[in-house]
Amino acid sequence: MSNGTLTVRGGTLALPTGRVEGDIQIVDGKITAVGQVGDDRGDVIDATGLMVMPGAVDPQVHFRDPGLTHKEDLETGARACAAGGITSFLEMPNTRPTTTTYEAMAAKKARAAEVCVVNYNFFVGATADNLDVLNGVQNVCGIKIFMGASTGDLLVSDPEDLDRIFARGRRLIAVHAEDEARLKERKVAFADRTDPTAHPEIRDVTSAVLASTLALDLSEKYDRRLHILHLSTGDEVQLLRDRGKGGGRVTTETLPQYLLLHGPEAYEALGTKAQMNPPIRTKDHQEALWKGLHDGTIDCIATDHAPHTLDEKALPFGRAPSGIPGVETSLAVMLDAAHRGLCSVEQIVQWMSAVPARIYGMAGKGQLAVGMDGDLALVDLKKTEKVGARGYFTKVGWNPFDGQTITGWPVMTVVHGRVAFRDNEIQPGVRGQEIRIDLDAGWSRPA
Ligand code: DOR
Repeated sequence: MSNGTLTVRGGTLALPTGRVEGDIQIVDGKITAVGQVGDDRGDVIDATGLMVMPGAVDPQVHFRDPGLTHKEDLETGARACAAGGITSFLEMPNTRPTTTTYEAMAAKKARAAEVCVVNYNFFVGATADNLDVLNGVQNVCGIKIFMGASTGDLLVSDPEDLDRIFARGRRLIAVHAEDEARLKERKVAFADRTDPTAHPEIRDVTSAVLASTLALDLSEKYDRRLHILHLSTGDEVQLLRDRGKGGGRVTTETLPQYLLLHGPEAYEALGTKAQMNPPIRTKDHQEALWKGLHDGTIDCIATDHAPHTLDEKALPFGRAPSGIPGVETSLAVMLDAAHRGLCSVEQIVQWMSAVPARIYGMAGKGQLAVGMDGDLALVDLKKTEKVGARGYFTKVGWNPFDGQTITGWPVMTVVHGRVAFRDNEIQPGVRGQEIRIDLDAGWSRPA
């Protein structure tokens, strides 16, 4: 346990009810007072000129630990989170070994408890034959299904296997929705293309729509809680709208990469660094995603932090891996979007903290309120800095927004009442905790 006591004075608090000038007190890791706080307890932090937000919650990251730790590991991934204002993450199962067994899950959690500076939980990965594990493993955030192959070898694309997984259990199912048969066909058809602009043509809009439609059908058939990961197309936004989001049974997320980069320009500027699955698409899709966020069709924002080294990304198109890192900059680039009038800071608090916490039933997370966990992100809405200028905690040391000058940066991060990041440094000795998932508090129906 790594709980702390501290008093934050004089900030602008991003409360569920709106912005308030005031203080926050955290005692033994929990928020005990909000607004006007009496006597100091613990260390006192001067938040004058800063906005105090609930720590960001990133509901989709890949930290590569175990097995691919030359790209990232749980320690560096968690540090990168803290530097980016993220106090809780949910991590994906496409590690080596995959997180598809009781043993692999236990080992991952044990490692996280040792090295993670922020809070954590993990998806259990679906295979064609691990149904017992999917429903038997304790306190995980959900089941991850790769309906189309991406990085790693996790894949469940046979409709009968998918049917069996949706039919049994009640835990949330999160899908990577791309149609495997179509992806395979198109890879062959486009085999002569050597330019990364072919990436979104191969993994096209129809591939995404087909898989999302199948997932929606299965969710409806079995009344099963579904979350569609990294939504990238306007067509899927419309599909979800048309189907009333399965009567509240279905939630979804999108990513800063999709909201702030678009093809073909991103591919021309960044080459294979812009390559990810599902792909960054054209401006009309980007506009539809913003619309979907604003009208509530899209519920929240994740990063899909998927680090690959610069050497790996420098391989020619076809051999370069898909994936883009993001935890260190997601909050900053979204605050910059607010600075430019694309959304409000209050919406960012909803999309990057309150709503993901609610979707996954993350006990104690996502709000500045008495009784909640003392996880904070202190942000300077006026700070202007080039992305990359302060260096990186992620092992891969690059970012798709490198060199862009943006306004609005996290400057201090508090985890369970202890300062985890301040003055561009990770503070020693702070440890996050396993996030308790309350299945019944999860967003299984509209609030
Ligand atoms: O681009 C991607 N990279 N998409 C995924 O679904 C997986 C991820 C990775 O793990 O590299």
